[in-house]
Amino acid sequence: MYKTYWGMELNPFDKGLAACDCFKSGDFAQASSRLEHLKNIKGIGLFTGLPGTGKTYSLRCFADSLNSNLYKVAYIPLSTVTVLEFYKSLAYGLGIEIFQKKVDLFKNIQERIISLSKDKKIIPVIIIDEAQYLKTDILNDLKILFNFEMDSKNYAIFILSGQPVLNDILSKQIHEALKQRIVIKWNFRNDNILKRNQKNGIKLKQRIVN
Ligand SMILES: Nc1ncnc2c1ncn2[C@@H]1O[C@H](COP(=O)(O)OP(=O)(O)OP(=O)(O)O)[C@@H](O)[C@H]1O
Ligand SMILES: [Mg+2]
Repeated sequence: MYKTYWGMELNPFDKGLAACDCFKSGDFAQASSRLEHLKNIKGIGLFTGLPGTGKTYSLRCFADSLNSNLYKVAYIPLSTVTVLEFYKSLAYGLGIEIFQKKVDLFKNIQERIISLSKDKKIIPVIIIDEAQYLKTDILNDLKILFNFEMDSKNYAIFILSGQPVLNDILSKQIHEALKQRIVIKWNFRNDNILKRNQKNGIKLKQRIVN
C-alpha cells in the first residue's frame, strides 16, 4: 500500500525483504535495546546516523517484531512534503479518512491515536524516516500533536530517524519543547560500514595471500 501511495519501487519496510536474521552490529544492538525500552515507556525516540549506517534496517526489524494485535505501525518514508501532505500521509498510515483541511486531519489523527491506545489497546507506532527534511512547521506541530491530556499520558510511540544534521535542527531553541519530549536516542556510529569494510579487507588480504 505504501508503495502505491508513495510511488516507490520497493518499500524498505517490506516483510518480503531479507528477514531480520541480520548482522547484529553494535549499532543494531544499541538501537534495538532502546526501541524495546521505548515500547515500555512510549513517547518520542530519536535515531540519527550517516547514510547507510542501518537506521531504516533497524527500524524495520523493530516494526517486524511487533505483534500486529498490539501495535499499529505507520511508516512515513518521505519528509520532503508540505505540512498538509504530511498530515495526509499520517492519516493514511493510521488508516483514517484523509480530510482536505489541516484542522480536520489534526483532530482526527489525535482522536485515532487515543482511541487505538485507550479503547482498542493497540499502541500506534509512528515512524518518520529521513526526518532531517521535515519542515520547521511540521516539527513545531509534532509537539502539539502528541500533547495528550496535558502531557500526562503517552498514547503512542513516535520515532524520528534521520541524518546527524537532525540533531542540530532539534538543538535549535525553537524546537526545545519537542527535544525535551525525546525519551530515548541513539546516534548510529557507522560500525556496520566499518565491520563490512574490515570483512572486505580480510577477504582482500586472503586473496593476496592465495
Ligand atoms: N544490521 C544489519 N545487518 C544486515 N544488513 C544491514 C544491517 N544494517 C544495515 N544493513 C543493510 O545496509 C544497507 C543500508 O542500511 P539502511 O538503509 O538501513 O541505512 P540508513 O542508515 O537508513 O541509510 P540512509 O540514511 O541513507 O537512509 C541496507 O541494504 C541494509 O539492508
Ligand atoms: Mg534509511
